[in-house]
Amino acid sequence: MKFYMPTKLYQEADCVWHHRGEIGQLGKRALIVTGRHSAKANGSYDDVCRALDDQNIGHALFDEVEENPSIETVMKARDFGAEHQVDMVIGIGGGSPLDAAKAIALMLKHPDEDRDYLYKKGADSSTLPIVEVPTTCGTGSEVTPVSVLTIHAQKTKGSIPHKIFANYALVDGRYLKTAPVSVLHNTAIDALAHLWEAFINADADDYTHMCVAEGLRVWKRSKAVLLGEKPAADEDYNNMMNASALAGMAIAQDGTTLPHGLSYPVTYNQHMPHGRAVGYFQAGYLAAADKADREAALTMAGFQSLDEYQHFYEALCGSDKLSDQDLDYAVDVLSQKPDKLKKAPFSVDKGVLKKIAFFTK
Ligand SMILES: [Fe+2]
Repeated sequence: MKFYMPTKLYQEADCVWHHRGEIGQLGKRALIVTGRHSAKANGSYDDVCRALDDQNIGHALFDEVEENPSIETVMKARDFGAEHQVDMVIGIGGGSPLDAAKAIALMLKHPDEDRDYLYKKGADSSTLPIVEVPTTCGTGSEVTPVSVLTIHAQKTKGSIPHKIFANYALVDGRYLKTAPVSVLHNTAIDALAHLWEAFINADADDYTHMCVAEGLRVWKRSKAVLLGEKPAADEDYNNMMNASALAGMAIAQDGTTLPHGLSYPVTYNQHMPHGRAVGYFQAGYLAAADKADREAALTMAGFQSLDEYQHFYEALCGSDKLSDQDLDYAVDVLSQKPDKLKKAPFSVDKGVLKKIAFFTK
Protein backbone atom coordinates (compact mmCIF):
# COMPACT_ATOMS: atom_id res chain seq x y z
CA MET A 1 0.00 0.00 0.00
CA LYS A 2 1.04 3.56 -0.50
CA PHE A 3 -0.27 7.02 0.16
CA TYR A 4 1.31 10.00 -1.56
CA MET A 5 -0.09 13.51 -1.56
CA PRO A 6 2.74 16.03 -1.32
CA THR A 7 0.61 19.15 -1.84
CA LYS A 8 0.40 21.39 1.21
CA LEU A 9 -3.29 22.14 1.67
CA TYR A 10 -4.82 24.95 3.67
CA GLN A 11 -8.56 25.37 4.04
CA GLU A 12 -9.89 28.47 5.73
CA ALA A 13 -11.54 31.80 5.07
CA ASP A 14 -9.08 34.31 3.53
CA CYS A 15 -6.77 31.40 2.80
CA VAL A 16 -4.84 33.11 -0.01
CA TRP A 17 -4.13 36.19 2.08
CA HIS A 18 -3.09 34.22 5.15
CA HIS A 19 -0.58 32.20 3.17
CA ARG A 20 0.80 34.94 0.94
CA GLY A 21 4.21 34.60 2.60
CA GLU A 22 4.47 30.99 1.47
CA ILE A 23 3.42 31.90 -2.07
CA GLY A 24 6.11 34.60 -1.92
CA GLN A 25 8.79 31.98 -1.35
CA LEU A 26 8.04 30.23 -4.65
CA GLY A 27 9.17 32.80 -7.18
CA LYS A 28 9.36 36.39 -8.37
CA ARG A 29 6.88 36.51 -11.23
CA ALA A 30 3.68 34.49 -11.48
CA LEU A 31 1.59 33.39 -14.43
CA ILE A 32 -2.05 33.42 -13.28
CA VAL A 33 -4.15 30.91 -15.21
CA THR A 34 -7.95 31.28 -15.21
CA GLY A 35 -11.08 30.95 -17.30
CA ARG A 36 -12.74 34.03 -18.76
CA HIS A 37 -15.02 35.25 -15.97
CA SER A 38 -15.56 33.36 -12.72
CA ALA A 39 -12.21 34.08 -11.03
CA LYS A 40 -12.96 37.78 -11.38
CA ALA A 41 -16.59 37.42 -10.28
CA ASN A 42 -15.98 35.38 -7.12
CA GLY A 43 -13.11 37.51 -5.78
CA SER A 44 -10.39 34.86 -6.05
CA TYR A 45 -8.44 36.70 -8.76
CA ASP A 46 -8.43 39.93 -6.73
CA ASP A 47 -7.34 38.00 -3.62
CA VAL A 48 -4.42 36.42 -5.50
CA CYS A 49 -3.35 39.77 -6.99
CA ARG A 50 -3.49 41.44 -3.55
CA ALA A 51 -1.38 38.65 -2.04
CA LEU A 52 1.18 38.82 -4.86
CA ASP A 53 1.37 42.62 -4.74
CA ASP A 54 1.96 42.44 -0.98
CA GLN A 55 4.88 40.08 -1.61
CA ASN A 56 6.27 42.19 -4.50
CA ILE A 57 5.69 39.35 -6.94
CA GLY A 58 4.96 40.43 -10.49
CA HIS A 59 2.10 38.75 -12.32
CA ALA A 60 0.71 38.21 -15.79
CA LEU A 61 -2.83 36.98 -16.42
CA PHE A 62 -3.73 34.29 -18.96
CA ASP A 63 -7.53 34.13 -18.80
CA GLU A 64 -8.28 32.13 -21.94
CA VAL A 65 -8.70 28.64 -20.49
CA GLU A 66 -11.87 27.11 -21.95
CA GLU A 67 -14.00 24.26 -20.57
CA ASN A 68 -12.04 21.06 -21.21
CA PRO A 69 -8.81 22.88 -22.10
CA SER A 70 -7.04 21.92 -25.28
CA ILE A 71 -3.39 21.24 -25.96
CA GLU A 72 -3.45 24.35 -28.16
CA THR A 73 -4.51 26.51 -25.19
CA VAL A 74 -1.77 25.05 -23.00
CA MET A 75 0.85 25.85 -25.64
CA LYS A 76 -0.48 29.38 -26.11
CA ALA A 77 -0.29 29.97 -22.35
CA ARG A 78 3.23 28.54 -22.25
CA ASP A 79 4.36 31.03 -24.90
CA PHE A 80 2.61 33.86 -23.05
CA GLY A 81 4.26 32.87 -19.76
CA ALA A 82 7.69 32.55 -21.36
CA GLU A 83 7.30 36.01 -22.90
CA HIS A 84 6.62 37.40 -19.41
CA GLN A 85 9.52 35.43 -17.90
CA VAL A 86 7.40 33.87 -15.19
CA ASP A 87 8.90 31.47 -12.66
CA MET A 88 5.74 30.13 -11.03
CA VAL A 89 2.15 29.32 -12.03
CA ILE A 90 -1.08 29.98 -10.11
CA GLY A 91 -4.24 28.23 -11.32
CA ILE A 92 -7.59 29.65 -10.21
CA GLY A 93 -10.97 28.15 -11.00
CA GLY A 94 -12.59 24.80 -11.67
CA GLY A 95 -10.93 21.72 -13.06
CA SER A 96 -10.16 23.27 -16.42
CA PRO A 97 -7.84 26.10 -15.26
CA LEU A 98 -6.36 23.94 -12.48
CA ASP A 99 -5.54 21.08 -14.86
CA ALA A 100 -4.25 23.51 -17.48
CA ALA A 101 -2.02 25.24 -14.90
CA LYS A 102 -0.18 21.95 -14.25
CA ALA A 103 0.41 21.28 -17.94
CA ILE A 104 1.48 24.91 -18.53
CA ALA A 105 3.93 24.74 -15.59
CA LEU A 106 5.37 21.55 -17.12
CA MET A 107 5.86 23.13 -20.54
CA LEU A 108 7.34 26.31 -19.06
CA LYS A 109 9.93 24.18 -17.28
CA HIS A 110 10.82 22.53 -20.59
CA PRO A 111 10.94 25.52 -22.94
CA ASP A 112 12.65 23.72 -25.80
CA GLU A 113 10.04 20.98 -26.02
CA ASP A 114 6.98 21.05 -28.29
CA ARG A 115 3.41 19.88 -27.68
CA ASP A 116 4.34 16.21 -28.07
CA TYR A 117 6.10 16.47 -24.70
CA LEU A 118 2.71 16.69 -22.94
CA TYR A 119 1.90 13.06 -23.79
CA LYS A 120 5.49 11.73 -23.78
CA LYS A 121 5.66 8.75 -21.43
CA GLY A 122 8.65 8.43 -19.11
CA ALA A 123 9.81 12.02 -19.70
CA ASP A 124 10.91 14.35 -16.90
CA SER A 125 7.76 15.66 -15.17
CA SER A 126 9.37 18.51 -13.23
CA THR A 127 7.51 21.84 -13.41
CA LEU A 128 7.68 25.42 -12.25
CA PRO A 129 6.19 25.80 -8.73
CA ILE A 130 2.37 25.61 -8.77
CA VAL A 131 -0.32 27.07 -6.51
CA GLU A 132 -3.93 25.96 -7.08
CA VAL A 133 -6.98 27.90 -5.87
CA PRO A 134 -10.21 25.95 -6.49
CA THR A 135 -13.45 27.84 -7.04
CA THR A 136 -15.72 24.83 -7.72
CA CYS A 137 -16.31 21.75 -5.60
CA GLY A 138 -15.75 18.70 -7.76
CA THR A 139 -12.49 18.37 -9.56
CA GLY A 140 -10.11 17.93 -6.62
CA SER A 141 -7.44 18.92 -9.13
CA GLU A 142 -5.76 21.02 -6.42
CA VAL A 143 -4.65 17.78 -4.71
CA THR A 144 -4.39 15.34 -7.63
CA PRO A 145 -1.45 14.80 -10.00
CA VAL A 146 -3.87 14.68 -12.94
CA SER A 147 -4.17 17.03 -15.90
CA VAL A 148 -6.88 16.12 -18.40
CA LEU A 149 -6.61 17.87 -21.76
CA THR A 150 -8.73 17.80 -24.88
CA ILE A 151 -7.06 16.10 -27.82
CA HIS A 152 -8.90 17.44 -30.85
CA ALA A 153 -7.01 15.12 -33.18
CA GLN A 154 -8.57 12.13 -31.35
CA LYS A 155 -11.93 13.82 -30.66
CA THR A 156 -11.72 13.03 -26.94
CA LYS A 157 -10.06 14.01 -23.68
CA GLY A 158 -7.19 12.25 -21.98
CA SER A 159 -4.93 12.57 -18.93
CA ILE A 160 -1.33 13.47 -19.66
CA PRO A 161 1.04 10.76 -18.37
CA HIS A 162 3.01 13.26 -16.24
CA LYS A 163 2.06 13.17 -12.56
CA ILE A 164 2.07 16.75 -11.34
CA PHE A 165 1.16 17.82 -7.81
CA ALA A 166 0.81 21.48 -6.90
CA ASN A 167 3.05 22.89 -4.17
CA TYR A 168 0.06 24.51 -2.46
CA ALA A 169 -3.72 24.09 -2.54
CA LEU A 170 -5.42 27.14 -1.04
CA VAL A 171 -9.06 26.25 -0.38
CA ASP A 172 -11.62 28.90 0.57
CA GLY A 173 -15.32 27.98 0.56
CA ARG A 174 -16.33 31.61 0.00
CA TYR A 175 -15.47 31.31 -3.69
CA LEU A 176 -18.46 28.97 -4.11
CA LYS A 177 -20.93 31.63 -2.98
CA THR A 178 -21.26 33.21 -6.41
CA ALA A 179 -21.05 29.95 -8.37
CA PRO A 180 -24.14 29.23 -10.50
CA VAL A 181 -26.32 26.50 -9.00
CA SER A 182 -25.72 24.31 -12.07
CA VAL A 183 -21.97 24.45 -11.43
CA LEU A 184 -22.45 23.44 -7.78
CA HIS A 185 -24.67 20.57 -8.91
CA ASN A 186 -22.35 19.28 -11.61
CA THR A 187 -19.21 19.56 -9.55
CA ALA A 188 -20.75 17.99 -6.41
CA ILE A 189 -21.74 15.01 -8.57
CA ASP A 190 -18.17 14.85 -9.90
CA ALA A 191 -16.85 14.71 -6.31
CA LEU A 192 -19.27 11.87 -5.55
CA ALA A 193 -18.12 10.06 -8.69
CA HIS A 194 -14.48 10.40 -7.59
CA LEU A 195 -15.30 8.96 -4.18
CA TRP A 196 -17.25 6.02 -5.57
CA GLU A 197 -14.77 5.26 -8.35
CA ALA A 198 -11.85 5.42 -5.89
CA PHE A 199 -13.76 2.98 -3.68
CA ILE A 200 -14.91 0.49 -6.33
CA ASN A 201 -11.45 0.29 -7.83
CA ALA A 202 -8.99 -2.54 -8.38
CA ASP A 203 -6.27 -0.50 -6.65
CA ALA A 204 -8.31 0.60 -3.64
CA ASP A 205 -6.73 -0.07 -0.26
CA ASP A 206 -7.15 0.97 3.37
CA TYR A 207 -5.67 4.40 2.71
CA THR A 208 -7.95 5.25 -0.19
CA HIS A 209 -10.84 3.92 1.88
CA MET A 210 -9.86 6.39 4.61
CA CYS A 211 -10.31 9.30 2.16
CA VAL A 212 -13.47 7.81 0.65
CA ALA A 213 -15.20 7.15 3.97
CA GLU A 214 -14.43 10.62 5.29
CA GLY A 215 -15.13 12.24 1.93
CA LEU A 216 -18.58 10.66 1.71
CA ARG A 217 -19.33 11.54 5.34
CA VAL A 218 -18.58 15.17 4.53
CA TRP A 219 -20.19 15.05 1.05
CA LYS A 220 -23.57 13.86 2.27
CA ARG A 221 -23.92 16.85 4.61
CA SER A 222 -24.63 19.02 1.55
CA LYS A 223 -27.39 16.90 0.01
CA ALA A 224 -30.27 18.99 1.34
CA VAL A 225 -28.60 22.18 0.14
CA LEU A 226 -27.97 20.68 -3.30
CA LEU A 227 -31.61 19.61 -3.53
CA GLY A 228 -32.69 23.17 -2.69
CA GLU A 229 -34.32 22.05 0.55
CA LYS A 230 -32.37 24.58 2.61
CA PRO A 231 -30.24 27.64 1.87
CA ALA A 232 -26.47 27.27 1.89
CA ALA A 233 -24.50 28.60 4.87
CA ASP A 234 -20.74 29.21 5.02
CA GLU A 235 -20.32 25.79 6.59
CA ASP A 236 -22.04 24.15 3.61
CA TYR A 237 -19.66 25.76 1.15
CA ASN A 238 -16.72 24.57 3.26
CA ASN A 239 -18.17 21.06 3.38
CA MET A 240 -18.53 20.97 -0.41
CA MET A 241 -14.93 22.12 -0.87
CA ASN A 242 -13.61 19.63 1.69
CA ALA A 243 -15.53 16.71 0.16
CA SER A 244 -14.07 17.61 -3.21
CA ALA A 245 -10.52 17.75 -1.81
CA LEU A 246 -10.91 14.44 0.04
CA ALA A 247 -12.25 12.89 -3.17
CA GLY A 248 -9.24 14.31 -4.99
CA MET A 249 -6.89 12.75 -2.44
CA ALA A 250 -8.60 9.40 -3.00
CA ILE A 251 -8.28 9.46 -6.81
CA ALA A 252 -4.72 10.77 -6.46
CA GLN A 253 -3.97 7.28 -5.10
CA ASP A 254 -5.88 4.93 -7.37
CA GLY A 255 -7.40 7.00 -10.20
CA THR A 256 -10.88 6.99 -11.69
CA THR A 257 -12.41 4.07 -13.49
CA LEU A 258 -15.15 3.16 -15.98
CA PRO A 259 -17.68 6.03 -15.57
CA HIS A 260 -14.95 8.62 -16.13
CA GLY A 261 -13.69 6.61 -19.11
CA LEU A 262 -17.19 6.51 -20.63
CA SER A 263 -17.73 10.22 -19.99
CA TYR A 264 -14.84 11.62 -22.04
CA PRO A 265 -16.20 10.98 -25.56
CA VAL A 266 -19.65 12.12 -24.38
CA THR A 267 -18.24 15.38 -23.08
CA TYR A 268 -16.27 15.90 -26.27
CA ASN A 269 -19.14 15.18 -28.65
CA GLN A 270 -22.19 16.38 -26.71
CA HIS A 271 -20.51 19.11 -24.65
CA MET A 272 -22.16 17.58 -21.59
CA PRO A 273 -20.60 19.07 -18.43
CA HIS A 274 -18.06 16.73 -16.85
CA GLY A 275 -19.96 16.12 -13.58
CA ARG A 276 -23.23 15.45 -15.36
CA ALA A 277 -21.48 13.02 -17.73
CA VAL A 278 -19.68 11.02 -15.02
CA GLY A 279 -22.82 11.00 -12.84
CA TYR A 280 -24.80 9.55 -15.76
CA PHE A 281 -22.83 6.30 -15.56
CA GLN A 282 -22.62 5.87 -11.76
CA ALA A 283 -25.80 3.83 -11.31
CA GLY A 284 -24.72 1.39 -14.02
CA TYR A 285 -21.25 1.12 -12.51
CA LEU A 286 -22.57 0.41 -9.02
CA ALA A 287 -25.03 -2.12 -10.45
CA ALA A 288 -22.14 -3.98 -12.10
CA ALA A 289 -20.07 -3.99 -8.91
CA ASP A 290 -20.00 -6.56 -6.13
CA LYS A 291 -23.15 -6.35 -3.97
CA ALA A 292 -21.26 -5.59 -0.75
CA ASP A 293 -19.27 -2.81 -2.44
CA ARG A 294 -22.44 -1.35 -3.97
CA GLU A 295 -24.27 -1.32 -0.66
CA ALA A 296 -21.30 0.19 1.20
CA ALA A 297 -20.90 2.92 -1.45
CA LEU A 298 -24.59 3.83 -1.31
CA THR A 299 -24.81 3.73 2.48
CA MET A 300 -21.72 5.88 3.03
CA ALA A 301 -23.25 8.50 0.68
CA GLY A 302 -26.59 8.35 2.51
CA PHE A 303 -28.58 6.62 -0.24
CA GLN A 304 -30.79 3.63 0.49
CA SER A 305 -30.86 2.33 -3.07
CA LEU A 306 -29.62 2.86 -6.61
CA ASP A 307 -33.02 4.36 -7.43
CA GLU A 308 -32.59 6.97 -4.73
CA TYR A 309 -29.20 7.94 -6.18
CA GLN A 310 -30.67 8.12 -9.67
CA HIS A 311 -33.47 10.42 -8.50
CA PHE A 312 -30.94 12.63 -6.73
CA TYR A 313 -28.79 12.76 -9.85
CA GLU A 314 -31.74 13.62 -12.07
CA ALA A 315 -32.91 16.31 -9.64
CA LEU A 316 -29.50 17.96 -9.95
CA CYS A 317 -28.48 17.21 -13.53
CA GLY A 318 -31.72 16.51 -15.39
CA SER A 319 -33.18 13.33 -16.80
CA ASP A 320 -32.21 13.68 -20.47
CA LYS A 321 -30.91 10.41 -21.87
CA LEU A 322 -27.96 10.06 -24.21
CA SER A 323 -28.67 8.58 -27.63
CA ASP A 324 -27.85 4.93 -28.39
CA GLN A 325 -25.31 6.17 -30.90
CA ASP A 326 -23.47 8.30 -28.31
CA LEU A 327 -23.49 5.47 -25.79
CA ASP A 328 -22.22 2.93 -28.32
CA TYR A 329 -19.45 5.33 -29.30
CA ALA A 330 -18.44 5.82 -25.64
CA VAL A 331 -18.33 2.03 -25.19
CA ASP A 332 -16.21 1.64 -28.34
CA VAL A 333 -13.70 4.28 -27.21
CA LEU A 334 -13.38 2.90 -23.69
CA SER A 335 -13.13 -0.72 -24.83
CA GLN A 336 -9.86 0.25 -26.51
CA LYS A 337 -8.33 1.51 -23.28
CA PRO A 338 -7.07 -1.56 -21.39
CA ASP A 339 -5.42 0.53 -18.66
CA LYS A 340 -8.77 2.08 -17.74
CA LEU A 341 -10.66 -1.23 -18.01
CA LYS A 342 -8.43 -2.93 -15.51
CA LYS A 343 -9.20 -0.27 -12.90
CA ALA A 344 -12.56 -1.97 -12.34
CA PRO A 345 -12.39 -4.66 -9.61
CA PHE A 346 -14.47 -7.06 -11.75
CA SER A 347 -13.92 -8.48 -15.21
CA VAL A 348 -14.96 -6.16 -17.97
CA ASP A 349 -15.73 -6.93 -21.59
CA LYS A 350 -17.69 -4.99 -24.14
CA GLY A 351 -20.94 -6.56 -22.93
CA VAL A 352 -20.35 -5.35 -19.37
CA LEU A 353 -19.46 -1.87 -20.62
CA LYS A 354 -22.61 -1.77 -22.68
CA LYS A 355 -24.73 -2.80 -19.70
CA ILE A 356 -23.20 0.00 -17.61
CA ALA A 357 -23.60 2.59 -20.36
CA PHE A 358 -27.23 1.70 -21.13
CA PHE A 359 -28.27 0.99 -17.51
CA THR A 360 -30.59 3.97 -17.10
CA LYS A 361 -32.23 3.75 -20.54
FE1 LIG B 1 -14.02 13.94 -12.54
